[in-house]
Amino acid sequence: MTTRILHTTPEDIAAAAELLRRGELVAFPTETVYGLGANALNEEAVRQVYEVKGRPTDNPMIVHVHSGRQARELMQVVPDLFSQLTDEFWPGPLTLIVKHNAAVPDVVTAGLDTVALRMPDLHVTRALLKQANIPVAAPSANLSGRPSPTTAQQVFDDLSGRISAVLYGGACPVGIESTVLDLTSPEPMILRPGTVTREDIEDVTQSRVFFAETDSDRPRSPGMKYRHYAPRADLRIIPWNEDQEQMLRGTCMAVRRYRSEGTLIGLLAPEAFRGCGEQHWYSLGAGLAVDYARLLYSGMRQLDEAGVDMILCPAVEEVGIGVAVMNRLLKAGELV
Ligand code: TXA
Ligand code: MG
Repeated sequence: MTTRILHTTPEDIAAAAELLRRGELVAFPTETVYGLGANALNEEAVRQVYEVKGRPTDNPMIVHVHSGRQARELMQVVPDLFSQLTDEFWPGPLTLIVKHNAAVPDVVTAGLDTVALRMPDLHVTRALLKQANIPVAAPSANLSGRPSPTTAQQVFDDLSGRISAVLYGGACPVGIESTVLDLTSPEPMILRPGTVTREDIEDVTQSRVFFAETDSDRPRSPGMKYRHYAPRADLRIIPWNEDQEQMLRGTCMAVRRYRSEGTLIGLLAPEAFRGCGEQHWYSLGAGLAVDYARLLYSGMRQLDEAGVDMILCPAVEEVGIGVAVMNRLLKAGELV
């Protein structure tokens, strides 16, 4: 199969929408990461997504919608907080878990009685979903186990020849996957942290919001049990330290120590850390948590391409968006 490259012109968006309607697989940008889309009402199309990604079939998919009304058409009951949360955060990087009705095929939800719903925010994505006018099941458009793609080229590298088209829409502004919030538990519960933070959600719910225990054997969000987002290189994280001078020294020491063992090092770090003696470098800009989020996956992929044995990355403080960043880093690697 030749994978078509489509652009953000009205004609190409219409073509992408038509392909989705017909049950073909189309990768498209969202504000978080690229998604691999299929008509959520077409079981065969959804089955192909699992196959193409090499995704375990017990890991359900997020269904993308263009309106609150389209979301409600898939729901059995509308949870109390649904409207308040969608008024505040949709379109945007918040996925809501709700009980679904019979319209949603089992293959989308891996047989669960709940479905994950999200309204993505990019103009091109909204135009695509509106024109397709079907709910679109879409996991991140990477091969299972690889870092999520944040550019169309990365999607193409992973999936060329296996899907009908890639809609080229530039780099994703957020860079890590959406926050997943379960609205079916007695209290809303964060199953996957993202850039919509616990505090952001608490401001709306006016009650404490907790993170689900993800280390158990039966995680609430099936995807959380898999090793994820991992580069091929060994990823080692330098622990957070309030004293940035000390963190810089610790990072440089780690670079020297591993180098002396003959390890080819790629340093993935804020600009201020550059020049520790690393052989390869990828800048995380100013080093705010949002910079980490935006650049992290691209950095992992690029350093992998450079062929490094080890990627060293300083931690960020685990507050606000830093919670989501550290969640992804710790899934991909380990602290030194
Ligand atoms: O930002 C995002 O969310 C991106 C873009 C493309 O929208 N999508 C994404 O999809 O990250 P994926 O498939 O890589 O991750 C979906 C996560 C998985 O951890 C999955 O287990 C969880 O959502 N999930 C999906 N349906 C669920 C359900 N019914 N109950 C609990 N967790 C669910
Ligand atoms: Mg994924």
